[in-house]
Amino acid sequence: MKIQLINGPNLNLLGVREKSIYGNTDFETYLKELRQRYPSVEIDYYQSNVEGEIINKIHEVGFNNDGIVINAGAYTHTSIAIADAIAAVKSPVIEVHISNVYKREEFRHHSMLAASCKGVIAGFGMDSYRLALENLISI
Ligand code: DQA
Repeated sequence: MKIQLINGPNLNLLGVREKSIYGNTDFETYLKELRQRYPSVEIDYYQSNVEGEIINKIHEVGFNNDGIVINAGAYTHTSIAIADAIAAVKSPVIEVHISNVYKREEFRHHSMLAASCKGVIAGFGMDSYRLALENLISI
């Protein structure tokens, strides 16, 4: 199986940024653990702070892999363009969030992407990514 993880803006700063919300672990460390846990799954990782680059990556992988797990960061709440890209591709896409966005500011309660996704997982810390992966693997 081949799964693409995509992190959007500011998620390159995991482990550094707002640790009380996002924790102490940087994504590369977490990714290593995830790959060890699922050795038979090819887990590709891409991070960008640029909306168009995220869209390009969805187009690139979304017709020839088994799924996409995306944490689009703040673009979740604003980006019709990323929602359209998700709707355009064939691979199932799961939206994830590290924090429980529903416990936070009201502007984080709405997702532009969710309606185009297979499902949404939020609030389990870094484990949100694994839970999404688990779903795609169990198809
Ligand atoms: C986030 C939640 C978003 O509201 C925020 O803009 C992020 C991270 C999360 O993983 O909890 O950058 O997607």
